[in-house]
Amino acid sequence: MDQMTQVHMERDGEVAVIVIDNPPINAGSAAVRSGLLSAIGQFKEDAVLTAAVIIGAGKAFVAGSDLREFGLPLAEPQLPSVIAAIEACGKPVVAALHGAALGGGFELALGCDARVASADLVVGLPEVTLGIIPGAGGTQRLPRLVGIARAIRMICSGERVDSEAALSLGLVDQIASGDLRAAAIAYARRLQGTKSRLSERAVPAVDEAGVAAAIAAARRAGGRNPAVQAAIDAVRSAAVLAFDQALSEEREVFQQLRLSAQARALRHLFFAEREAARPLADAAAVTGAVQRVAVIGAGTMGCGIAISALDAGCDVRLLEQQAEALERGTARIQDYYASRVAAGKLKAVEAAAREARLQPTLDWSLLAEADLVIEAVFEDLAVKQAVFRRIDGLARPGAVLASNTSYLDLDAIAAATRRPQDVLGLHFFSPAQVMRLLEIVRGAQTSPQVLATGLALAQRMKKQPVVTGSAFGFVGNRIYSAYRRQCEFMIEEGALPQQVDAALEAFGFAMGPFAVADLSGLDIAWRMRQAQAGQRDLQARYVDIPDLLCDAGRLGRKTGAGYYAYENSDGKTHRRSDPQVEALILAASAAKGMLRRSLGDEEIVRRALLSMVNEASLLLAEGVAQRASDVDVVLVNGYGFPRLQGGPVFWARERGEPALTAGLDELVGLSGPGFVRCELRHVLNQEG
Ligand code: NAI
Repeated sequence: MDQMTQVHMERDGEVAVIVIDNPPINAGSAAVRSGLLSAIGQFKEDAVLTAAVIIGAGKAFVAGSDLREFGLPLAEPQLPSVIAAIEACGKPVVAALHGAALGGGFELALGCDARVASADLVVGLPEVTLGIIPGAGGTQRLPRLVGIARAIRMICSGERVDSEAALSLGLVDQIASGDLRAAAIAYARRLQGTKSRLSERAVPAVDEAGVAAAIAAARRAGGRNPAVQAAIDAVRSAAVLAFDQALSEEREVFQQLRLSAQARALRHLFFAEREAARPLADAAAVTGAVQRVAVIGAGTMGCGIAISALDAGCDVRLLEQQAEALERGTARIQDYYASRVAAGKLKAVEAAAREARLQPTLDWSLLAEADLVIEAVFEDLAVKQAVFRRIDGLARPGAVLASNTSYLDLDAIAAATRRPQDVLGLHFFSPAQVMRLLEIVRGAQTSPQVLATGLALAQRMKKQPVVTGSAFGFVGNRIYSAYRRQCEFMIEEGALPQQVDAALEAFGFAMGPFAVADLSGLDIAWRMRQAQAGQRDLQARYVDIPDLLCDAGRLGRKTGAGYYAYENSDGKTHRRSDPQVEALILAASAAKGMLRRSLGDEEIVRRALLSMVNEASLLLAEGVAQRASDVDVVLVNGYGFPRLQGGPVFWARERGEPALTAGLDELVGLSGPGFVRCELRHVLNQEG
């Protein structure tokens, strides 16, 4: 790393132009910091120079700090020293901001005397989303510009602000109409040598009610992220402590948090998510831009997928077999947009523009116009095959044909067409317009271009893609099934559903597995078990409690009863434990001759997570999951696994091999016949 190649100084008369050039995003690294420090030193010493501009080469100012450095002792010089040098140099320094000025990049800009932006700028302090707080003065300088309440809102949510909003908030002083560099140089000259340090400014008068509201909102949205409260405390101290003292306290908290388990988990996910979305080496070229999308099936998923495509700017044809279902689906999409407008989340004109790109139809010949067709009809292989035969007859050559199946064999679906190379799975999660995860299923014959098109579409829809192989349940549903099965074992052995749910909710899941099952409806899995009864391994342990519940008409929340009883009051549905369920479970254990024992919360969490880890390792060995870290991306983005815990693979690596091996030994014994034990090396191999 040569600092001189990452930062260099140019001259425009008496103005120094310090250029940060660390492609692709000018991430703040040790080399960048040290290059900046020496450039500032040079600028200070050079009597000819009266002002400086700091500008980024390429597509951003500084889009953040290099997170790889955050798990290690930070190399000198650290960012606060660079900013201190800017403040101390005696001559004004203007930040010329374009693209992104995020995290440490924005803190650097706040350490300058003025900020000139280009129209494409986004600024923000996303540190809290990575489990840390801004550590280079962000919590102290931002409130001096926007006040305590606004600073809490911005820092605790990691909000990104565009150039116009940045100007109206005072985060930047000017938006350059033409060339940014020239505008920043002109601005620097106009300062006529005067410094204007934010550290010397007073914090605007504190609006107590506004601060209390901002804190309450931040705590609500922040869940258990310890960085949220730390950020609130740091920002509030801007109003009460001397700048230097508050600054050093901020740094101390930053240093503690950056090494915390939560921050490590969040960094792990940051890299894992980026890696999962990276185009595959053999799938670099897309088949062509996707503009016209045909969605087949206007049910729950079809409507959600149609909304995602409309939101991404695509033209959407929504196809159905029955007029009634089509009308219901269309109304659902309209209601969705009406509710977004009513909630103030979307402008009425924008909603109207999106709805105008929707064409509901029963005329399948319109399929011929689609660049991409997504099928979301009933989960039944024969039905899907019939639909794909029909699509094959109508879609244009080269169109991408996708199925939203959640379990079925993609190759069997593709085989219904004469173009299996054009078929892939796009497995959305419910509600599709909200959930970020998109499993992109690669069939045996899916072409690299078709896969690349799927990845590009995911990006356009702002989804988090993960490429999986084609195998029953892909990655997510297969791991989730193993987890749920283990939880069923535990209720058969002695726990109750509410205890299992409570233990896993305490671990951080938004909902335990039995509450989730009730919400989804127990009948889906019931029907699947019935369909597969013929293939079931009769030697394997089989928990019949879910079947017994379904037999009793307890299909979950929609029937008012499942693993829990449900009551409606104050406009909400409340779950409560049900003695009838307990009796049913006790009878089921007794019928198998099982002596129930009490299970501790620690055992419940350990077994539930180990079952996920075990299945993840099997999927890696089979090549269905490409990388261990993909498993974490899937579970966190699609299945409510707590982000602060990093995912099952992260959890496993934190425990280490000896503890995992012992845990698996125990799990194999307790699970009984049918449990397939993995080889741990697949999840422990840090490469993936
Ligand atoms: P749904 O029952 O709400 O909707 C299915 C729709 O497809 C209905 O409107 C039906 O009229 C239509 N349809 C059925 N056969 C058709 C045909 N031959 N031609 C045209 N339209 C037809 O089902 P849902 O929940 O939307 O599921 C659809 C697919 O999405 C299934 O494959 C399912 O496994 C998958 N999926 C479902 C998830 C969920 O949480 N519901 C999550 C992820 C995937």
